[in-house]
Amino acid sequence: MEKILVLDFGGQYDQLIARRVREHHVYAEVKPYNKIALEEIKAEYRGIIFTGGPNSVYDPASPHYDPAILSAGLPILGICYGDQLMAYMAGGEIRNAENSSEYGKIEVTVNPASPLFEGLPETSVCWMSHNDFVSAPPAGFETIATTAKCPCAAMSDEGRSLYGVQFHPEVTHTAYGKRILQNFLFNICRCAGDWNMEDFIEQSVAKYRRELAGKRVLCALSGGVDSSVAAVLMHKAIGDQLVCVFVDHGLLRKNEGDMVESVFRHRFNMNLVRVNAEDRFLSKLAGVTEPERKRKIIGEEFIRVFEDEGKKLGKMDYLAQGTIYPDVIESGKGDASVIKSHHNVGGLPDVIDFEGIVEPLRDLFKDEVRATGLKLGIPEDLVYRQPFPGPGLAVRIIGEITKEKADTLREADAIFREEIANAGLDRSIAQYFAVLTDTRSVGVMGDARTYGYTVALRAVTTDDFMTADWARIPFEVLERASSRITNEVRSVSRVTYDITSKPPATVEWE
Ligand code: XMP
Repeated sequence: MEKILVLDFGGQYDQLIARRVREHHVYAEVKPYNKIALEEIKAEYRGIIFTGGPNSVYDPASPHYDPAILSAGLPILGICYGDQLMAYMAGGEIRNAENSSEYGKIEVTVNPASPLFEGLPETSVCWMSHNDFVSAPPAGFETIATTAKCPCAAMSDEGRSLYGVQFHPEVTHTAYGKRILQNFLFNICRCAGDWNMEDFIEQSVAKYRRELAGKRVLCALSGGVDSSVAAVLMHKAIGDQLVCVFVDHGLLRKNEGDMVESVFRHRFNMNLVRVNAEDRFLSKLAGVTEPERKRKIIGEEFIRVFEDEGKKLGKMDYLAQGTIYPDVIESGKGDASVIKSHHNVGGLPDVIDFEGIVEPLRDLFKDEVRATGLKLGIPEDLVYRQPFPGPGLAVRIIGEITKEKADTLREADAIFREEIANAGLDRSIAQYFAVLTDTRSVGVMGDARTYGYTVALRAVTTDDFMTADWARIPFEVLERASSRITNEVRSVSRVTYDITSKPPATVEWE
């Protein structure tokens, strides 16, 4: 199978580059520069991309690779630090740009005759983020792009198929970044582009079947997209060696527990243990109003529940998790190996003595995980499910949590979600839900005075959840939701819509 190696020199965009390559139907793998030998690279890959990185090539502590890689006969594209490193290895000159560092969108002029820039206009916008730059390309290289401040914004040695760009073609701000990668893959590496998500599934299945032969694997299922896809993928690989544990803490959305159970137990015929622990969680949460304390209690109780279940299940060798690439970045990039010997699950049981962790989705982005889920036959409404926080409705009930309040919120939330879906907005709004505030207010129903809860509706649009904007839901949809909630949910007498963006607010209320 044709593969591209993304040789990681410590940049933040390594997996993004791999994903951009996969978008062209060419499989890409990220390997840290110090974890792969040149012989293996030569044997396994069709081309190489050197990533960026925060270092300066002249710094003795900066990451380097054996310069023989430039003569290995494989096409290479160096990006940012990778470009500077290529120049350095080939004898070029790199300088620190005291006054000419470039950040953000910069106009670049390219030589469209270069195979890397085929189809590009002479000038376009690229994304730059650098201090150092190549001040003189190495012998045998020519400059193929410039910017106002950068005399060599891209270089090439066509004879050896070596290319370097100072800017970042992998980020969407580079207008022709996609085309540049396409040119590298097809004009320069001569890839066929016949890889797809099914191949990923098949490769993973074969790999885990081999590596986990005879092992028992536990998967903590939350019903969210990531853990669901991970579980189904692992089940395809190892069948009944996989045991899924689904903890229903009583703070799930309406019908959610039953939906998860029916999909996994009945549709996929998986070994599923559903733990109905509502009483346990609610009694621990009784009287607690402080948000962080709620989260903590829920996290701890999860561990206790797993401890108890672990005792019943007997020895489990591995823990399978639905970690996806953005989680990996968030928790700090570690060793990219697939089965790790140590684990840190942010709350899952240390008490169960696992040999290791399996994270089959570790290299994928959310949309790739969804594509995998659909290919695996997971129903669309589960695959496109909006994110739901681990602590569940606990962070959407302000003040003390009781079963009555959770039931009230579940009903209001279900109505709001139904109305959003009826309006066809469920795929365009990233997250939408109801919050039960602790404010009561006076209302009038029939001739009687009421004094019920205030429900707040929250809906946001966002790409990454780091920032978010409140969704401009049509008034008619809000009106229908409000009218149904106040009519159908006893004890709610007022509905408001939250029009705060993040920042300064967060998506969740607690
Ligand atoms: P915030 O409220 O921080 O939420 O703007 C950003 C995204 O993270 C989700 N979220 C959580 N997810 N455990 C989770 O698994 C949590 O404790 C948690 N808190 C917030 C939130 O739903 C939104 O998608």
